[in-house]
Amino acid sequence: MKNIDSFTHTRGESVYLDDIPVLVGSLYGAVYGSPLAHGKITKLDLSEALALEGVVRIFTYQDIPGKNQIGGIIPDEPLMAEDEVHFNGMPVAFVVASTKEIADAAVKKINIEIDPLPIVTDPRLAKKNGSLIVPPRTFKLGDSENAFASCKHIYEGIAETNGQEHLYIETQGAYAIPSENNSIKVYSSTQGPTAVQRHMADVLAIPMHRIEVDVTRLGGGFGGKEDQATSWAVFCGLAAFLLKKPVKYSLNRMEDMRMTGKRNPYTSDYKIGLDENLKIKAYEVSFYQNAGASADLSPAVLERTLFHSTNSYFVPNVTATAYSCRTNLPPNTAFRGFGGPQGMFVIESAIAKVAESLGIDASVIQEKNLLVTGDEFSYGQIAESEAGACWNKASAIFDIETLRKEITAFNSKNDLFKKGLSFMPICFGISFTKTPMNQARALVHVYTDGSVNISTGAVEMGQGVNTKMVQVAATIFSISPDQIKISTTNTFRVANTSPSAASATADLNGKAVQIACNNILQRLKEVAATKFNCSADDIKIENEKVFVNNQSSEMTWKDLIGEGYLKRISLSEHGHYATPGLHFDQSKEKGHPFAYHVYGTAITTVTIDCVRGIYEIDSVKIVNDFGTSMNTIIDRGQIEGGLVQGIGWMTMEEIVYDAEGRLRSNALSTYKVPDIYSVPKTIDLEFLNTQNDNLAIFKSKAVGEPPLMYGIGTYFALRNAIKAFNPNSGIGYSAPMTPEKVLLGLYHSKNV
Ligand code: MTE
Ligand code: HPA
Ligand code: MOS
Repeated sequence: MKNIDSFTHTRGESVYLDDIPVLVGSLYGAVYGSPLAHGKITKLDLSEALALEGVVRIFTYQDIPGKNQIGGIIPDEPLMAEDEVHFNGMPVAFVVASTKEIADAAVKKINIEIDPLPIVTDPRLAKKNGSLIVPPRTFKLGDSENAFASCKHIYEGIAETNGQEHLYIETQGAYAIPSENNSIKVYSSTQGPTAVQRHMADVLAIPMHRIEVDVTRLGGGFGGKEDQATSWAVFCGLAAFLLKKPVKYSLNRMEDMRMTGKRNPYTSDYKIGLDENLKIKAYEVSFYQNAGASADLSPAVLERTLFHSTNSYFVPNVTATAYSCRTNLPPNTAFRGFGGPQGMFVIESAIAKVAESLGIDASVIQEKNLLVTGDEFSYGQIAESEAGACWNKASAIFDIETLRKEITAFNSKNDLFKKGLSFMPICFGISFTKTPMNQARALVHVYTDGSVNISTGAVEMGQGVNTKMVQVAATIFSISPDQIKISTTNTFRVANTSPSAASATADLNGKAVQIACNNILQRLKEVAATKFNCSADDIKIENEKVFVNNQSSEMTWKDLIGEGYLKRISLSEHGHYATPGLHFDQSKEKGHPFAYHVYGTAITTVTIDCVRGIYEIDSVKIVNDFGTSMNTIIDRGQIEGGLVQGIGWMTMEEIVYDAEGRLRSNALSTYKVPDIYSVPKTIDLEFLNTQNDNLAIFKSKAVGEPPLMYGIGTYFALRNAIKAFNPNSGIGYSAPMTPEKVLLGLYHSKNV
């Protein structure tokens, strides 16, 4: 089935926040962000800004009727600064004016005086200063300390990954409309409508039942709108509530890049030990997460780093500790993979270091240590592994022997171009790591003409979840997808939603749709059974026709609905789903946090130009574990998009903050993302088809985040190409691998 949005997307008719018609009399907002990264506010002078014609009002924290607080996990994030600022761009005031241009002009006329305080941007320094967001956490399996004693090969090192800008095509924004009796409706470009509703209720000091949050679709979220869409919506809500006028704010690209958090950068220390057979026996790792100025989602991101610290490998003795370090940067946040990629990069670096030191191919170590079913993860869950199946299938169908021979031949013939190859196995846990978040609801209405309308907690952000919801209902009812309409995500129709995140949206909401449809179907079957004088079990609906004991009757789906209405049965249902079997005990750091894992293997080949340091990605060949994909077109799109986004993070996307905590890479001219010229020349994707996972909707495993981690393979393929040119290259384990870094790596044999 094609993506149901493809038609309106292609014609430019899909409705994003900025396409919503604005009411007459609407006002426009703009945030004034702190010009300094840390300090005490001694004076805030709004007079010049207020004097501008068209400025309606400027809000500060003093105007907030309720709590000045939007922290999602811990309450450490004010909506607007009170006496201190903690990062450059931290909201201090919200200007509202009759036009967007006037609001922007007024922001420039605000004067502030700040007594500077020391600025910390380095997580290791923050840790040294005792500046942690939450207490450190340690996952432990076996006894790594003693296990090192029996290891033949022991290596230590540092591995670092930089942040990543989400660069959703649609920037952050919201539009709030006041309504009678102190209620408010807000259109928000958010992955978490309930988060917006809850925080707005706290800030305005009104109950949640007065706040309707409505989301049509997002022009991308990638985690950046899981929590960080909230503030903009609350600003609009606050102003609309107090002014009794609709208020809109949609950020321009530079505001968005400057004021929002990104993927958490990490710097990590590891020690790895292997026995004489190259089995990994012990692994110790300390992760220093750069959280930014407040918690946001960083504590949850940190947790997922620990869950994925051993990637696809079985390691019997693990001690993994993670520190969430408070710095004077914008609060970093969820980004596709949610800390998993950061953890996986470190063990891949450790394995690469061992391989390079022993003069062998990393894939020899990787393959020997792949998880098998029955292996225990460091957090106690037992693996049902497809790691070997993916690896073996990839090696076979992509003919790895020939590929290696070609690369060896190329490298021996060419002095100034070198090729490199890498394997990247992945293993990603599906479920929110916070067990209570693994629930969802759906509201299904069947109208008397037989057409169906569905609301769920799922937010469509390009990942195709709405198409999958239509497929679920169409399959259960056995009616045409054209009969089914998915409504906007709305807190008045579906309450208490988890954000659309953790790759779990289709599973959670799809199961809720499935439950609701099955309940309606059961009632309909009973109606038909009465009419045909048989049991409900004898009734089947197939392609909009009613079957009695497998014989087609005269009755159509529409007739049956009409009959159900006359018999006064409910043609609506609210389905609720909670993933069974999940538990996690944080006091022991053990449990069964994931419904299942997604596995896969990517084989990447690259060519570097050893004069210029530039490179091309020749091919990425992937075997991905889809279970039984319910939509191969959408799932393929997710794999290709995730892969390219991961390659961007690992190669060209370079976030730069200066020592003052100012974002230097603050525009598309200074922050480079993959374009058509930098994507792999070929991407081959093979489906590993399995039937095991009943917790995946229709056994179709989650696909949103896992492919991002295939991009890590590009980093190591580039390393291998550099080493083919200069075996003594001193290049460190620090991503991204920009052409500049490649060039230094080619010609420097010590510590680049
Ligand atoms: N694909 C598109 N086109 N746009 C997005 O914003 N977000 C990713 C992934 N794929 C995203 C995307 C992220 S971070 C997640 S968690 C999942 O989609 C969320 O959707 P799912 O749970 O339906 O997979
Ligand atoms: N993934 C994504 N988002 C989340 C998670 C998670 O595991 N937990 C809380 N928010
Ligand atoms: Mo995705 S990072 O869980 O929104």
